[in-house]
Amino acid sequence: MSFRLQPPAPARPNRCQLFGPGSNTKLFEKMAASAADVVNLDLEDSVAPSDKGIARKNIIEAINSVDWGKKTLSVRINSLDSPFWYRDVVDLLEQAGERLDQIMIPKVGCGADIYAVDALVTAIEAAKGRKKRIAFEVIIESAAGIAHVEDIAAASPRLEAMSLGAADFAASMGMQTTGIGGTQEDYYMLREGQRYWSDPWHWAQTAIVAACRTHGLLPVDGPFGDFSDDEGFRAQARRSATLGMVGKWAIHPKQIAIANEIFTPSETAVQEAREILKAMEEAKARGEGATTYKGRLVDIASIKQAEVIVKQSEMIAGQ
Ligand code: COA
Ligand code: MG
Repeated sequence: MSFRLQPPAPARPNRCQLFGPGSNTKLFEKMAASAADVVNLDLEDSVAPSDKGIARKNIIEAINSVDWGKKTLSVRINSLDSPFWYRDVVDLLEQAGERLDQIMIPKVGCGADIYAVDALVTAIEAAKGRKKRIAFEVIIESAAGIAHVEDIAAASPRLEAMSLGAADFAASMGMQTTGIGGTQEDYYMLREGQRYWSDPWHWAQTAIVAACRTHGLLPVDGPFGDFSDDEGFRAQARRSATLGMVGKWAIHPKQIAIANEIFTPSETAVQEAREILKAMEEAKARGEGATTYKGRLVDIASIKQAEVIVKQSEMIAGQ
């Protein structure tokens, strides 16, 4: 334990981030009308190289004209190993209005990647007299990204969120799978002839949660590619929520309601958390640091656990 307090993550809901290609303008109004907390307009891998210019124009126009309500509005720029990213940043910061909240930087490999984008964004903000500071979110989706995850999390005060990008991560790690998140058929233990699937994303997710919690960022689970598999999405989202992640991407609208459901603490969980807090209040009044709740031990650590759930539910209800 450090004497330094763990910084809080931004107090805004981030249960679902809905993505849509910047080249597909007919999706924009639907994204704005959706129940996702965050909208990510994409300039990167869902846009063909020949369409980057038109996608930028579409996105800038949509930022300025569509009513995005209370959503966090984010644009995923191209990665720093591409020839496109600087133009993404320059055009967005020079031409998009103050409604733009955030830039998502994909495929980050080290803290200096963030520094480079920060330097460019800071200069344009000053030159153009932009009032609202643009926030950053990043995707960890490479071997270098996960190896330097803590360095990346600490790289800029603009950083608010960090996602795991399962597909590019798997490719970079040399994993033998073409699935985007979820159960991997070949990742199992055998016991008496029965297969028990393990979770190949667990380590990367936990590393991201630890880096995020250390530096006050929101840890987010990325895409689940098979949008016909609701139960697979639900299971993946439940694992992520259990590990401390606050939300998940949706690459199709049918995934939004499931993400919102899983990342909103249930009434039962909130009720139980409140009862634990009450039981501990009563224990404290008796001069005790530990007591029994429903036949199990609760102590001072349980107060912190219960407070996570209550605070999360109050923050979501307050939006
Ligand atoms: N946001 C908002 N609405 C969307 C949407 C999205 N990302 N994807 C689909 N829809 C809409 C469709 O326009 C359609 O609307 P309609 O009923 O008014 O016609 C409805 O949801 C059903 O869509 P469906 O026909 O099932 O899907 P599709 O074939 O139109 O599109 C994808 C499928 C995967 C191409 C599309 O969902 C998509 O582009 N997803 C985002 C991909 C992306 O951004 N990837 C980058 C991050 S990994
Ligand atoms: Mg990717």
